[in-house]
Amino acid sequence: MAERTMLAIRRDAYGEPETLRLDEVPVPQPKPGEVLVRVRASSVNRADIDYLTGTPLLTRMGTGMRSPRNQGLGLDVAGVVDAVGAGVTRWAPGDEVLGDLTLYGYGAFAEYACAPERTWVRKPATVSFEEAATLPQSAVLALQGLRGGQQIGPDSRVLVNGASGNVGPFVVQLAKAFGAEVTGVCSTSKVDFVQSLGADHVIDYSREDYRRGGPRYDWIVDVMGKGSMAAVRRALRPGGRYVMAGGSTGAIFAALTVGSALSLAGGRTVGLLLWWKPGNPADMERLAAMVEAGTLRPAIDRRYPLAEVPDALRYLADGKARGKLVITM
Ligand SMILES: NC(=O)c1ccc[n+]([C@@H]2O[C@H](COP(=O)([O-])OP(=O)(O)OC[C@H]3O[C@@H](n4cnc5c(N)ncnc54)[C@H](OP(=O)(O)O)[C@@H]3O)[C@@H](O)[C@H]2O)c1
Repeated sequence: MAERTMLAIRRDAYGEPETLRLDEVPVPQPKPGEVLVRVRASSVNRADIDYLTGTPLLTRMGTGMRSPRNQGLGLDVAGVVDAVGAGVTRWAPGDEVLGDLTLYGYGAFAEYACAPERTWVRKPATVSFEEAATLPQSAVLALQGLRGGQQIGPDSRVLVNGASGNVGPFVVQLAKAFGAEVTGVCSTSKVDFVQSLGADHVIDYSREDYRRGGPRYDWIVDVMGKGSMAAVRRALRPGGRYVMAGGSTGAIFAALTVGSALSLAGGRTVGLLLWWKPGNPADMERLAAMVEAGTLRPAIDRRYPLAEVPDALRYLADGKARGKLVITM
C-alpha cells in the first residue's frame, strides 16, 4: 500500500519564522500505546517562539543545544482520532480529542499528530475544534497559575499582569468565574479588549504601575515578570500570593532567589509557577467542560491556514495579538 503523506511545518535549525517550511512528509504510524490524530485546529503559543528561536538559551536544554531535536513545531492539538496503536483501549477512530504535545516532540502544526494515549482528552461535541485548540497550553497554564481557584472566591482581588495575550485572557475569565474582583494589566490599545473579557478594572501599564500604591491583591498572576520582587510583594494583601508564569531571565532569577527569601519572611508568597503540569488531563477536561457550559469563552483574534504559521508567529512576536491565534487545517 502506498505510504500516506501529510503537510507539516518543519525546520532544521533555530531561527526566525522565515526558517520554517511547509513539507510533505509521511503520516506517522502509531506505535503500541499511541494514538494518531487528524489535526483540525492548533493554536500558537509564546513557547512556539522560544522553541523556534532557541532563546532564551536555557530553552535549548529541553529542545537541543546546537540544533532542534525535533523538526516539527506546535503544541496545541484539537482533532479526530484516525488510528490507534496496539493496546490502546480508550480511543477509537472518529473520537474527537484535544491534547498538548509539549512532552511528546511538538509537531502540532501538521495535518496529523501522534502521541501516547494519555495525551488526549475528549472534546465535548458542542465545543468547536478552534475553541478546543486554544486550551491545552494557554488555558491550562492560566488555571494552574490560579492553583485551580481553590483559594479564590468572592472576597478575593486578583490581578493579571499581561492580560491581553495567550494566557492572560484565560486568567481574567477563570478568576471571574471563581467569583473574584479582577484587574487586568495591558497596553493602551488593548484596554477595551481586556474589559470585554469581563475584567472589573484595567490598568494601562504605560500610564500606571500597579506595584506603586493603589489597591492590594490576594493573588497576582504575572506572565511578563520584570523588576523588583519587593515591589510585587508590596502589592499583595496579607496572605497574598504572587505567581510568575514567565518573564525576563533576570526576573525569573530574582523570583527564584529574592522571591524565595522574601516568602520565608512569611505573610505573603512571591515566586515562580514551579508546579506547571503541561497537558494535565484533569485540567484540560475541566476547561473544556467550562467552555461547553459557557463559563469560559476562548478569545480568538485571528485564524491562519497551516501554510501561514510563520505569519501567525510574527504577529504574536510583534505583540499584536489580542487573545489566541488559531491555525486551521
Ligand atoms: N511557568 C511555566 O511553567 C511556563 C510554561 C509555559 C509558558 N510559560 C510562560 O508563560 C508566559 C505566557 O505568556 P503569554 O503566552 O500570555 O504571552 P503573550 O501572549 O506574548 O502576552 C504577553 C502579555 O504581556 C503583556 N505585556 C507586555 N509588556 C508588558 C509590560 N511592560 N507590563 C505588563 N504587561 C506587559 C502584553 O500586553 P500588551 O500586548 O497589551 O502589550 C500581553 O498581555 C510566557 O512568559 C511563557 O514563557 C511558563
